[in-house]
Amino acid sequence: MIQTAAATVGDWTARNFRCVVVVEKYGIDFHQEADVLIDEACRQRGLNLEAVLSELQAAAAPRQAVSGDWANISLRELTKHINARHHEYLKLELPRLRQRLDRMATRHGERDGALLSRLHAVYCGLQEELELHLHKEEMILFPVINRYDSAAETGYPIGAPPFGTVRNPIQMMLREHDGATDALKQMRAITRDYVPADYACANFRAVFASLEELEADLLEHIRVENEFLFPRAAELEKALLG
Ligand SMILES: [Fe+2]
Ligand SMILES: [Fe+2]
Repeated sequence: MIQTAAATVGDWTARNFRCVVVVEKYGIDFHQEADVLIDEACRQRGLNLEAVLSELQAAAAPRQAVSGDWANISLRELTKHINARHHEYLKLELPRLRQRLDRMATRHGERDGALLSRLHAVYCGLQEELELHLHKEEMILFPVINRYDSAAETGYPIGAPPFGTVRNPIQMMLREHDGATDALKQMRAITRDYVPADYACANFRAVFASLEELEADLLEHIRVENEFLFPRAAELEKALLG
């Protein structure tokens, strides 16, 4: 927990990328003012310190782990959980991190140019793949799974989906999960386990912390789909359609 009174702008912004966003929103330059106390930075701008601090506290809080009975809740509840917890998070975080990495490549080019350009390349590939992946799940796969779930509950007869069997898109999603897992491993290797150099600025630290958070979230997201959603959906299809 940061001691708020004695914390500098840099202390806050190194926590994660969401804190950088808060600080920037108030027109505070996290580079130029990294060593300035947050209350001083607020005072200079006539900002309400309490309001800024409470936003920073909220932004700095780590994402709480969520556990659920993924083997037994309905498949509609499970797709709803995946959308709300993981897809919405990625839709918000992926473009924000991309924007930050784009800017870092120009600001830190001299010292960390090689690391940043490799990180940037892997990240951009992952982002593009994931955005398409989420779209396919939400537009093609999840609606069919939800339809199966409703049919099982109501007992109404149901036909096969246009792509024959749910196992087809599931195979594709599994391959894409493997690709995303590889990209995460590459980013972890490039950043040496997300440990920033001693001289790294708050922005750098924040991006590493946010990438590590993204990794944890994505691995959990993939685990819930691979281990629960997909096998349960294939099983239900078999029970409904034979
Ligand atoms: Fe997903
Ligand atoms: Fe997925």
